[in-house]
This record gives sequence, C-alpha cells and structure tokens, in this order.
Amino acid sequence: MKILITGGAGFIGSCFVRYILNKYNDYQVINLDALTYAGNIENLEDVQDNRNYTFIHGNICDKKLVRDIMSEVDLVVNFAAESHVDRSITGPEIFVETNIQGTLNLLQASKETGVERYLQVSTDEVYGTLGKTGYFYETTPIAPNSPYSASKAGADLLVRSYFETYKLPVLITRCSNNYGPYQYPEKLIPFFISKLLRNEKVPVYGDGLNVRDWLYVYDHCSAIDTVLHKGKIGDVYNIGGHNEKTNIEITKLILMSMGKDESSIEYVKDRLGHDRRYAISNDKIQSELGWKPSVTFEEGIKLTIDWYLKNQDWIKNIENKKAGVL
Ligand SMILES: NC(=O)c1ccc[n+]([C@@H]2O[C@H](COP(=O)([O-])OP(=O)(O)OC[C@H]3O[C@@H](n4cnc5c(N)ncnc54)[C@H](O)[C@@H]3O)[C@@H](O)[C@H]2O)c1
Repeated sequence: MKILITGGAGFIGSCFVRYILNKYNDYQVINLDALTYAGNIENLEDVQDNRNYTFIHGNICDKKLVRDIMSEVDLVVNFAAESHVDRSITGPEIFVETNIQGTLNLLQASKETGVERYLQVSTDEVYGTLGKTGYFYETTPIAPNSPYSASKAGADLLVRSYFETYKLPVLITRCSNNYGPYQYPEKLIPFFISKLLRNEKVPVYGDGLNVRDWLYVYDHCSAIDTVLHKGKIGDVYNIGGHNEKTNIEITKLILMSMGKDESSIEYVKDRLGHDRRYAISNDKIQSELGWKPSVTFEEGIKLTIDWYLKNQDWIKNIENKKAGVL
C-alpha cells in the first residue's frame, strides 16, 4: 500500500507518519508538506532514513504536483491545513486557500486517479459551541464560528459532495483538541510551557472558563488509522476522549508541574467569537469500530509536559526561526 499523508511535518501529521511506519512494515508513506511556519521537518528526524518514507516539499494547492503524486497512491489522509484560530481572525484568506481550495485539489486528483480511500482530518470546531451540557454528535448541524472552523467546515462539505456526486470513497474524522509532543508553541499547552520557561506570565483569555475536550495526539492517530481501515465509506466519525477541562484548569496544572504559582497568570481580553464549550461524543467510533483512547489525561499531560521540558532546544529552534536567527 502507498499512503499519501499531507501536512505530515506538523504536530498531528508527524505523529501519524511515525504511527503508520511503526505499525505497517509494508506501507510506503509519502509526506507532502509545504513547510509553512507550522511545519517542521525536525519533527520527523527519527524516520527520515526509513526506506518506507519519502518527503516531498510541496503545496496541496499545486495541481500538477498533487496529480502526479496521486497517480501512484492508494490511500490519502489530509492533515495539511492552517490550524490556528487566532491567525484566522487576523488573516482569513490563507485559511480559505489551503483548507478549502487545497482540499478541493486533493479531492479532484483523488477522483481522477481513483484512490481506494480518502480521509479528511477535520475538527469538532465545525459544530460551533455548546452550552453547559450536551455533546457534539455526528448528526449535530455544522455551525462554525471562526474563519478557521468555517474553512474546515467548507472542506468537509466538499468532501461530502465528492461522495454524493462522484462516489469518491471518502471518510471524515472530527476530533477534539489534541495535546502532546511536537505541537507548535502558539497553541495553549506548549505556548504556556515556553512562556514559563522564560519566566514570563501566561495570558489566559477572558475568565478562563472556556471548556475544551482534550485527547492525547497518539490516540487521535490510532483513531484515524481505525477509521481509515475500518470506517464506512461516506461516513463522519467523531473522535474524543471525554476529558473536558476549562482553560484555567489546564493552566493551573501546567503551573503546578513547573513549580510556579498563580501569580504567573495574566487574564487578557477574550478572543473574538470565542466558543464557550466543546465536548464530543465518541459513541459511534467506539460502538461501530471498537476504538477507544489508550492514554488517560493524567498520563498524557505528564508525558507532554516532560517532553517539552526535555526538548527545550526544539522550542528554541522554533523561536530562533521566528526571530530570523536560523
Ligand atoms: N491540533 C488540534 O487540536 C486539532 C484537532 C482536531 C483536528 N485538527 C486538524 O488536524 C490537522 C493537523 O493539525 P495540526 O495541529 O497538526 O496542525 P499544524 O499547524 O501543526 O500542521 C499543519 C501542517 O500542514 C502543513 N501545511 C499547511 N499548509 C499547507 C499546504 N498548503 N500544503 C501542504 N502542507 C501544508 C504545515 O506545513 C504543517 O506541517 C488540521 O487539519 C487540523 O484542522 C487539529
């Protein structure tokens, strides 16, 4: 089998590349990544010499390149995206270009070359926000609130249309917030850790009571693998670990693990359109495909914080790149 993984140099994509190479000795993995600010080839240093692995530096919006690559692949998993909500609020155009136009390009090439399965990695953010109770189900109407989630929702609708119109064998996964090693330090957990390492305060939005449902990145990858191989074509699968935490709970946990107290917190003006609560039901993937998370939140957060503390050079290299030193 040949599998095209797009966005494989990012946080979740790099975990998935490693996951597939470890699990399937007979799979050839092609990683197509544009290496935007969020892509980091260092994330895959340990597999770069693996004979089953090929890296292609390129853009999912490049029609010819994508068509050429696709002519030799059986499976496609699309992680490539602009993924940071705050950036989508100040500059939405690139989100439409990559997340919608890029997905369309992949779908079109998949259709033309006849891939066996195309899996779109989506997010629970397409469902919008919840009140104090209830969960997102696969049947929950899509109601995105940020340019990021709107672009992901647009992509999901295109994926669905390629199934309905052309019978392209597609699958969509919608996962809750991920955490773990190699996450770009603009997202909450690595951002706060990197701030605290520099003895700076951590900025908490609003009252800190926004709720997110956290899943360890490895479990997201095992769920995608399960859906890719066992999912029903044309279906959507939610992925989550029932770990609802407020931002302030996560913040206090990080502070405690790093020997800091609450004087390191700075409350800042809330994000525009900030969704209050996400919580996802994983009933369908559990009951139909037998998937369940393997890492508890307590284990995962410890592994994650330890990793960032041990790999401070990884954070420093990113900061140097940002500052134009590298
Ligand atoms: N991080 C989360 O909590 C989370 C949760 C649910 C779903 N998702 C989805 O999972 C996917 C991966 O998220 P992530 O957190 O790893 O993101 P990330 O920002 O860490 O990685 C994105 C990767 O895509 C690459 N990329 C961006 N534009 C590209 C383009 N035009 N062509 C080729 N490559 C391009 C980047 O270089 C980077 O390597 C995204 O689709 C995201 O919407 C993320």
